[in-house]
Amino acid sequence: MEVRKLNDLQKLVALSKQRGFVFQSSEVYGGLNSCWDYGPIGSQLKLNVKLAWWKAMTSRNDIVGIDAAILMHPQVWKASGHVDGFSDPLVDCLDCQNRFRADTNMVDGEIVCPKCESKNLTEPRNFNLMFETYMGPVKEDASVVYLRPETAQGIFVNFGNVQASTRKKIPFGIAQIGKSFRNEITPGNFIFRTREFEQMEMQYFVKPGTDDEWFETWKKTRWDFYKTLGINQDKLRFHAHGDGELAHYAKAAFDIEYEFPIGWQELEGVHNRTDFDLSQHQKFSGKKLEYFDEANKEKYLPYVVETAVGCDRMCLMIMSDAYREEVTSKDGKEDVRVVMGFAPHIAPVKVGILPLSKKEPLKSLALKIRDDLAQNWNVEYDEAGSIGKRYRRQDEIGTPFCITVDFETSEDNAVTIRHRDSMEQERVSLDKLKEFLAPKLLA
Ligand code: GAP
Repeated sequence: MEVRKLNDLQKLVALSKQRGFVFQSSEVYGGLNSCWDYGPIGSQLKLNVKLAWWKAMTSRNDIVGIDAAILMHPQVWKASGHVDGFSDPLVDCLDCQNRFRADTNMVDGEIVCPKCESKNLTEPRNFNLMFETYMGPVKEDASVVYLRPETAQGIFVNFGNVQASTRKKIPFGIAQIGKSFRNEITPGNFIFRTREFEQMEMQYFVKPGTDDEWFETWKKTRWDFYKTLGINQDKLRFHAHGDGELAHYAKAAFDIEYEFPIGWQELEGVHNRTDFDLSQHQKFSGKKLEYFDEANKEKYLPYVVETAVGCDRMCLMIMSDAYREEVTSKDGKEDVRVVMGFAPHIAPVKVGILPLSKKEPLKSLALKIRDDLAQNWNVEYDEAGSIGKRYRRQDEIGTPFCITVDFETSEDNAVTIRHRDSMEQERVSLDKLKEFLAPKLLA
């Protein structure tokens, strides 16, 4: 049997639409550029991804979670440097009118249009990536607020509140999952780069001088997280930011990159942000944000090691990594089984329940099993079409187990369980079903 991995993102886009992972937003109106909606299968996948990340962070004794507002005081973005510095150099091609980022389209030190290769371009001008809106009924400069371009600032401005309310001692971290918005000049590649996306960020507050060590610890911890998701390690690598790449707030930064079908790209960033953000908010707000170390009677502004990843980008990575085509030939004909080999704890649907016939008593028996298992897991009942086609559909959404209710079930009180990856089948009695499944569906 030949196994083919994903080599073309468009295959994933097509499967996503067909099976309900991701749809183009506002499709009936022709879609809205770079906006995507998660369907019934995709929204459950995304939720499982968030839960895995949230658990990896907040099950630790030294990390707590928060959920801050998207709209924040506009001064936050002055202090953070986003109003003045969160911009990309924008260029227009005078030949084909393509608009693109100057910094990512350089050939031998010269800017070249990625569409028509012309060098007949406008001068680069800075384009701020923050979306603006107005608070209240009057559209005037004084009422401008921004849709947050990163979740991190909601954590920095709450550092004092969280520390005081939880009495956590440094080192400790604050984790958050939430939407961010960037008016990207060139979004694209499905859910890889979009203008509205979800981030999963954790800011870890440490004593200055211990930051380098914590930076290394977090690099390793985040790499290990991807192992627990079952991601192919050969497709992951670190990329260290050189001086020219470092963000205005960072002393050091490493990306964890993944080899997507579009090539090696940033998946997650691990940044040493020093005390940049806390000192800026202290300066702009006039409020002290120092930490008092009771044991050593010391006061200081903590340094921050941050881990930041896009949830949508992580979903794309997980889907790209999980996709495989198993190709077999019979009588000169090619048969392709598409399988999304998700780790069971990430799989959107854990069990497919498939009666061999729509007729009674199989239907009622299968529905009873569905209702029972649905107390614990997201399961799917499917009675439409041949059993072979139903198995294939479950394979394409990555369901690790299918249960077939057959004509013997009412006699022997047992069902056939079919494993997604090996396609092996075994008989399991109904009273042992949950015991059988539970350990196999854990992280
Ligand atoms: N607080 C630091 C920060 O936001 P970043 O490197 O700009 O750092 C972190 O973003 C992660 O957010 C990226 O590694 C990527 O996974 C995700 N991300 C950033 N911009 C994105 C976009 N336009 N679409 C999808 N994901 C994005």
